[in-house]
Amino acid sequence: MHHPPLTILAVETSCDETSLAIVRAWGDLGMPRFEVLRHIITSQIDLHRPFGGVVPSLAKREHIATLPLAWDQLFSDTSTPHLTPEDIDLIAVTVGPGLEPALWAGITFAQQHATTLGVPLIGVSHMEGHLYSFLLDSVDAQTRTLAFPMISLLVSGGHTLLVLSENLSKKTVIGQTRDDAVGEAYDKVARMLELPYPGGPEIERLAHAGSTDAIVFPRPMLSAKNFDFSFSGLKTSVLYHIRDYIREHNTLDAPHRGDIAASFQEAAISVLVGKTKKALETFAGQSLSVAGGVAANTYLRSRLRDIADDIDIPFFVPSGIFNTDNAAMIAAAGYINFLQKKSHPLRADGNLLF
Ligand code: KG4
Ligand code: ZN
Repeated sequence: MHHPPLTILAVETSCDETSLAIVRAWGDLGMPRFEVLRHIITSQIDLHRPFGGVVPSLAKREHIATLPLAWDQLFSDTSTPHLTPEDIDLIAVTVGPGLEPALWAGITFAQQHATTLGVPLIGVSHMEGHLYSFLLDSVDAQTRTLAFPMISLLVSGGHTLLVLSENLSKKTVIGQTRDDAVGEAYDKVARMLELPYPGGPEIERLAHAGSTDAIVFPRPMLSAKNFDFSFSGLKTSVLYHIRDYIREHNTLDAPHRGDIAASFQEAAISVLVGKTKKALETFAGQSLSVAGGVAANTYLRSRLRDIADDIDIPFFVPSGIFNTDNAAMIAAAGYINFLQKKSHPLRADGNLLF
């Protein structure tokens, strides 16, 4: 069944980005197409940085203040096509996972506008957003031939998931972290090295100056017969290493900081890549995708691209802003839910997956 293009407005407030997008979507579940018409992402990182992490009550207050301004900005934009609120056919809003007070800010805002405009409102999982974010990048069918089963690695500050998709409507979580998310491990190790939040990009930068095999950190659960992850032990090993090194040398010199960053990154990424490879083998994966904040990591991307190239399957990775939290990916997930006549309940659910 073919659907005429829909103009979707999406709202994302699950963490520390306030984002609104207007996305035109068409096509069916075999090949949904997206064109991002407007996209605003306002980061609260500077607000939370002094606290070393996101403070939920502050995040909520900031979302409530920012959303109406972003809305005005969306519709005062004079680029083509000209858009007014009356052009919106559907609103999609993130209902979880995330910080519940922050999620409620977005849900309430979306509900008010859906009521005023008399359009349907679809509740979307933030993880569905990350999962489908690669679809936003290219409307060129040649570079985006979907192939199933697809294995997806979703890596962010809050999640580390391996997902098996049989098609765009049937997906299963086959593995997840039992403790810290990989992005969280990056952030915590960055803190140990007195680097600012968010730590991922800082560690990646520092790692360039170090040696990946200087320190042998554990690779938790790499050989376990499942697809789950654990990063808390790795983080603790780094902590003990730093403590012992300072005890011995009185200081953490710059070359050694680089070695810690590189060796930690090697351990964390080896686990992600090893498990992903095993999932591709076990489920005879025909394509591979990666998304989420940690997918911005160049080393992770290149290692994943290598395993996809080795078995000659397509590798999908969203570009730039579509990796970090953004509303365009929520519009894409909203459209896929719409095609299936699905919506998650319109209430904040901090632990929602799919
Ligand atoms: O998806 P995201 O923007 O927000 C969440 O939903 O959590 O992910 C943020 C996470 C942070 O932990 C951040 O340190 C990490 O992604 N990150 C990175 C890199 N860029 C961001 N981790 C490793 N390498 C990077 N280049
Ligand atoms: Zn995210």
